[in-house]
Amino acid sequence: MKALYFEKFGDRDVLHYGTVQRPKIKSDEILVKTDYIGLNFADIYRRRGEYHIEKHSPYINGYEASGIVVAVGENVTAQKVGETVLFVDVPFANAEYVAVPSERAIRLPENIDSKLAASVGLQGLTADFLAHDLGKNTPNEKVFITGISGGVGQLLSQILIADGLEVYGSASSEEKKALALDHGVRTVFPSRETDWVESIEGQFATVYDGVGSTLQQSLDLLKHRGKVVFFGMAGGNPIKIDPVALMSESKSLLTGDLWDYLTSYQERKNRSERLFSYFERGKIKISEPTIFSLADGKAAHEYLETGKSIGKVLLKPGS
Ligand SMILES: NC(=O)c1ccc[n+]([C@@H]2O[C@H](COP(=O)([O-])OP(=O)(O)OC[C@H]3O[C@@H](n4cnc5c(N)ncnc54)[C@H](OP(=O)(O)O)[C@@H]3O)[C@@H](O)[C@H]2O)c1
Repeated sequence: MKALYFEKFGDRDVLHYGTVQRPKIKSDEILVKTDYIGLNFADIYRRRGEYHIEKHSPYINGYEASGIVVAVGENVTAQKVGETVLFVDVPFANAEYVAVPSERAIRLPENIDSKLAASVGLQGLTADFLAHDLGKNTPNEKVFITGISGGVGQLLSQILIADGLEVYGSASSEEKKALALDHGVRTVFPSRETDWVESIEGQFATVYDGVGSTLQQSLDLLKHRGKVVFFGMAGGNPIKIDPVALMSESKSLLTGDLWDYLTSYQERKNRSERLFSYFERGKIKISEPTIFSLADGKAAHEYLETGKSIGKVLLKPGS
């Protein structure tokens, strides 16, 4: 089968597209022929050697894809051949076929197709746990999201708005700003400038920060007793935090990793159903994903890594 792989960590030039061995499934696994593969910021960290990646020779990146079940192991009862599934936490996804533990496969409801599922799976489940496990905001609270028109940002803002919150955020271009405003965000501030920060300091119950380099700014935006929900560093590493300084204003810092919120079949099912319900109720609009052929993985990494993307970047095998 064809796959996107690399032999050593480094910049995007380490990526190659070529033939590798098709995986063999175990008794509790299913074989999925991938339809759309999600590219995520974590895949960039992994390619650079800055984040956990499963040992494999060669390394095959990627943990998220949708596709068709083409074979099932003898102990599998939850899926059948021919069903469409999504997975968001299974290694070696940058390939035409992936061996998926049955408990990690999420069967899609009829009204969610494989392109939509791969477009919103990992980022949507992230937005869901950030909002409902960490943020836990109550209606009418004011919250701020850095990089609000990124993949997670778009989904998180719409979930929070549907939950009754007043949402503000930052973005780097007029196009990204217009998108967020169209989703119901109150005001969008220019993310690569800082002269607006002082005017809204101390106002927010929660700041959701996945940019990282903005952590001090996020803390400044909080009111006393507020919290930063820190979930990534797309813009660079955060500053070191002094808990004593936080305590003096009763501010808190929460963090979380999606993997720790997807620990069983039931949890994946419940969380994905909650996420899909926002689509079923018409509460979330998404921009068309940008689709690269799996063979053009290098260009896809460049597009995501340099902040050009709006919304999801997908890789399409066999194109
Ligand atoms: N904790 C978890 O479990 C978990 C799970 C999934 C993702 N994440 C994290 O969530 C964050 C967002 O992920 P995503 O998939 O939504 O990524 P994304 O679509 O690329 O969005 C990231 C946003 O960060 C902003 N940004 C600011 N400075 C940047 C820079 N120097 N380079 C690139 N982007 C920059 C960009 O917004 P502007 O250009 O508009 O400023 C961009 O839209 C990432 O840090 C990712 O690692 C965490």
